[in-house]
Amino acid sequence: MGQTERDAFIIGSDELILVTGASGFIGSRLVSCLLNLGFLNLRCFVRPSSEVTRVEVLTGCRRDGARVELVEGNLLSREDCNAATKDVAIIYHLAAGRGEKSYPDAFLNSVVTTRNLLEASIRDQCLRQFVNVSSFAVYTNTKKPRWRVLDESCPVEKHPELRGDAYSFAKVKQDEIVAEYARKFGIPCVTVRPGHVYGPGNEPITGRVGIGTFGVFLHLAGSNAIPFTYVDNCAEAIALVGLTKGTDGEVFNVVDDDLPSSRNFLRLYKQQVRRFRSIYVPHSLSYVLCYLWEQYAKWSKGQLPPTFNRLRWHANWRKTRYSNEKLKMRVGWKPKVPMAEGFKRYFEACRNGVRDA
Ligand SMILES: NC(=O)c1ccc[n+]([C@@H]2O[C@H](COP(=O)([O-])OP(=O)(O)OC[C@H]3O[C@@H](n4cnc5c(N)ncnc54)[C@H](OP(=O)(O)O)[C@@H]3O)[C@@H](O)[C@H]2O)c1
Repeated sequence: MGQTERDAFIIGSDELILVTGASGFIGSRLVSCLLNLGFLNLRCFVRPSSEVTRVEVLTGCRRDGARVELVEGNLLSREDCNAATKDVAIIYHLAAGRGEKSYPDAFLNSVVTTRNLLEASIRDQCLRQFVNVSSFAVYTNTKKPRWRVLDESCPVEKHPELRGDAYSFAKVKQDEIVAEYARKFGIPCVTVRPGHVYGPGNEPITGRVGIGTFGVFLHLAGSNAIPFTYVDNCAEAIALVGLTKGTDGEVFNVVDDDLPSSRNFLRLYKQQVRRFRSIYVPHSLSYVLCYLWEQYAKWSKGQLPPTFNRLRWHANWRKTRYSNEKLKMRVGWKPKVPMAEGFKRYFEACRNGVRDA
């Protein structure tokens, strides 16, 4: 870390940093990024049930003179949160119920965990920044002109319970609770919202491209840009947002440069990973199908789960452009891994452990 960078950061290299979700897809890269930036005192919060290989990656990150402390626990336990937050200067909160399909599980692992962590952080007076890792899944894309850029000023979903997606519901509620605690207790907080984070370890094709649940892959995004960010680029963005002075109370979106269209991405994926049959569904047709599904789900009173609906269509498949200007301007981030290189690494990982789209 150079002198200029050091001056722009809110903490010194010896101060303690907590990373929750440290053994996760992004968390493990964040730990390594913080060490590369010269931070010497990291506490990694993992669950006892966390995948052993991922925890081993963290132990392997240790460098000369750096301390990487592994703390096992569950953020659902207040005692574990109190122990984790003790003497911490920055909390990077990445833990979340990302794969959860049920609302209660998603709520527990994203919202209750966040509340426990915030409450624990009030007890300790050392905290200088709470970095809330949110997601593009919280944004609504309704009432915006076609092609309008999705940036940090865009509205968050007002009725996430109608989206039919437990994850986005829980992430909206997580952001609400962070904002509430920041307001009530004066906790310094900043929110980072990554788009779709891709890279080795996150193989399936994002639902923003299309869905493969009906025996054939329905390509829904066509010429839309997909808000990709390579996992190492995203981890660096999260690190810098938490460290940089003057970000308190702000929101930062994370997407890389040169975003490919969904059509181009799918073509590359089929060429370089595996071939499969896909059918392109034009936007107007997918919108009507989502509308009909929504109506039938309402009419049948739960016989059909409200998985597809207009809110979800707007959020995932409406034509949108994305911006990373704020991130570049305010924290000096730029994506170090270009899209072509990111895809090369990602496709190679997919070939070595292909999962179904
Ligand atoms: N990946 C993406 O495309 C993407 C996009 C936007 C935002 N995000 C956000 O980025 C963050 C990290 O995502 P990721 O992709 O790295 O997900 P991930 O690989 O699933 O990591 C999430 C981590 O949270 C931990 N966790 C879950 N519940 C917990 C609990 N009750 N107590 C303690 N730890 C708990 C998990 O522990 P185990 O290892 O034990 O399961 C896991 O290590 C999340 O907040 C996610 O919402 C991700």
